[in-house]
Amino acid sequence: MSEKPILVLGMMSGTSADGIDVALARISGAPPNLNAKLLGHTSGKFPPALRREILRVAEQQPISAGELSQLNFRLGERFADAALSACRQFRVLPSRVALIGSHGQTIFHQGRPVPYFSSPTASTLQIGEPSVIAARTGITTVGDFRPADIALDGQGAPLVPYADYLLYRHAKLGRVSLNLGGIANITVIPAGAEPEGIVAFDTGPANMLIDALVAHFTRGRRRFDENAHLALQGRGIPALLNELFRDPYLKLPPPKSTGREYYGRAYLKKVLALGRRHRAKPNDLIRAATIFAALSVVDALDRFVLPKTKIHQLIVSGGGAYNPLILAQLSAALPRIEVLPSSRLGIPEEAKEAFAFALLAYESFHRRPANLPSATGAHGPTILGKISYAPPR
Ligand SMILES: Nc1ncnc2c1ncn2[C@@H]1O[C@H](COP(=O)(O)OP(=O)(O)O)[C@@H](O)[C@H]1O
Ligand SMILES: [Mg+2]
Repeated sequence: MSEKPILVLGMMSGTSADGIDVALARISGAPPNLNAKLLGHTSGKFPPALRREILRVAEQQPISAGELSQLNFRLGERFADAALSACRQFRVLPSRVALIGSHGQTIFHQGRPVPYFSSPTASTLQIGEPSVIAARTGITTVGDFRPADIALDGQGAPLVPYADYLLYRHAKLGRVSLNLGGIANITVIPAGAEPEGIVAFDTGPANMLIDALVAHFTRGRRRFDENAHLALQGRGIPALLNELFRDPYLKLPPPKSTGREYYGRAYLKKVLALGRRHRAKPNDLIRAATIFAALSVVDALDRFVLPKTKIHQLIVSGGGAYNPLILAQLSAALPRIEVLPSSRLGIPEEAKEAFAFALLAYESFHRRPANLPSATGAHGPTILGKISYAPPR
């Protein structure tokens, strides 16, 4: 198995289900001397009807086995199209790309076991059939990264911390990598850390609640609060914010992971009722959700990280990094920490997670474990993913 430079495409669609992010990376070597360079990134939106169906299914609305099977293959085609159009855009022939890592679209994630037919069961399901991606692109594709970790009693998430460790570790600086997708998650990388010293977990909702409120109040005309335009017109209601902070998830000790199952529609309903009780206008509620997105991260840092670890920098990525109110709140609440967007370290905010799945696929393909048991709670390291080989040329 050669460890000279290869081109790897990483693809990701997160809990926001806003579209597919694609990153092209040149990767060589092996940890601790793995070299990864991001060569390009792009993203494509889902057609609105398909997105509505993904969100409906991810909200655990009824779907037949037949429809789920169809959706898996249909999404496989979308991911394949995204890969091919990224290659055209980057002017790279697909035949030069050695490997694809495709996270797929999560439609269910239950990281902690819950009773199911009287036995505690954890499970996760990402769809977007990798065999279709491999067939259409002619590129061997690694998919289904999470189940191997759950099979070792881990939560199957978060997986990006392995990439965070490789990309951001620093001999002298303690760093936290914060990704603000639908959900906010942090990776804590103490100065000079070894992989065993990495702590990572989901801190709570980032854009999921904001997006849901915006879609609700605009009857679907807007999908998100671009540049915090609406939140900045809202009025602060401290009592309402205090009630948001009573959320029991915040107090749960890590490892922990969450998603639309917890912060989806039922949660939106609760927050809307809270808003009515406090006579909040739509923009007041959007403001509260935005401040909660930022300060629930700070709460997690104060509770579980800063008492034990010296942190110098907070590196922010994900779509929420473009929300000026979230960034301002983080900086104000963490005066002793430098808050900086990941692009300052050469990784565009919207490309970080796709880049991470290129790295994870590279590791899987070389049969190296890439889960961090300290982050997922798994019994031990494991090789992630399943390989769909490209048809012979
Ligand atoms: N300019 C912006 N202003 C405010 N929010 C933004 C902006 N750009 C993106 N976002 C937010 O980022 C979200 C998408 O982030 P992303 O990292 O793709 O999340 P996920 O990984 O869950 O798909 C959007 O739904 C939106 O809420
Ligand atoms: Mg996204």
